[in-house]
Amino acid sequence: VEADAAWRDEVRELARERDAVLLAHNYQLPEIQDIADHTGDSLALSRIAASSSASTIIFCGVHFMAETAKILSPEKTVLIPDERAGCSLADSITGAELRAWKAEHPGAVVVSYVNTTAEVKAETDICCTSSNAVDVVRSIPADREVLFLPDQFLGAHVKRETGRENMHIWAGECHVHAGINGPELAERAAANPDADLFIHPECGCATSALYLAGEGIVAPERVKILSTGDMVTQARATKATSVLVATEIGMIHQLRKAAPDIEFSAVNDRASCRYMKMITPAALLRSLRENRDEVHVDPDTAARARGAVQRMIEIGQ
Ligand code: 13P
Ligand code: SF4
Repeated sequence: VEADAAWRDEVRELARERDAVLLAHNYQLPEIQDIADHTGDSLALSRIAASSSASTIIFCGVHFMAETAKILSPEKTVLIPDERAGCSLADSITGAELRAWKAEHPGAVVVSYVNTTAEVKAETDICCTSSNAVDVVRSIPADREVLFLPDQFLGAHVKRETGRENMHIWAGECHVHAGINGPELAERAAANPDADLFIHPECGCATSALYLAGEGIVAPERVKILSTGDMVTQARATKATSVLVATEIGMIHQLRKAAPDIEFSAVNDRASCRYMKMITPAALLRSLRENRDEVHVDPDTAARARGAVQRMIEIGQ
């Protein structure tokens, strides 16, 4: 299947017939981003999924994102074009592991990144995404212990920003972002002294970037730790003419559209998420033609998870 004019016409026509809204994450293939009704970060897409009046949501992203949409809108039909699109970060903690961790810290407030399964969300007090994690942790009274999961690099970023000592961090990671390393970033930054650095907080190199800034090797004002949605906002605001981007490479497409005069380049151009890329033009067309893959969340689990997800979309609004 080619993403040509005939494909675009059929996708748009089927979406209209089905009363479906097409949502795409910033890491999707460029042709999927371009045909979607909305392209954005995890938080923005969750908010749109919750408020949309369409009866069907086609979620071009990974499974936990579609599950989150279903938790927020159980009455809507939620489809993901390929249900095998998982997430290595979401797989790094199970519901049973979280229950055991909570038992070690009775009374702690559980903050889970949205990159988690519905079962983990059902054990969570407040969910967060990379764009509101700091605000979510700040909203918790200072004397309460916090269990933050599952991403260790996002956790380290939040701990640094909030200065919070009573915060325990799970040791999970995303294989794509963990692979963008400090030495590679330092080398690219040294070779591009005028470039801004846009760094996703899931990256293993976020700490190194702040170290480089602290040591004066990179001008501190050039280092920006941002969610994917905030990268787009920052691209429109920056005066830099070139930007080094440390996140999944799908992001570059949306950045170039937002600021065509800036030269964006990936710190690591092998940083591609194979799960995100399972949503191909063929898979999207099949999804619309055959009404699949439908996302189901056990109603009891969804009911227990809903409060935590609802708090996530309300904080930082
Ligand atoms: P955001 O789009 O919320 O920054 O999330 C990044 C990510 O890794 C999603 O899988
Ligand atoms: Fe999960 Fe990482 Fe892929 Fe995002 S980039 S979906 S965190 S594996």
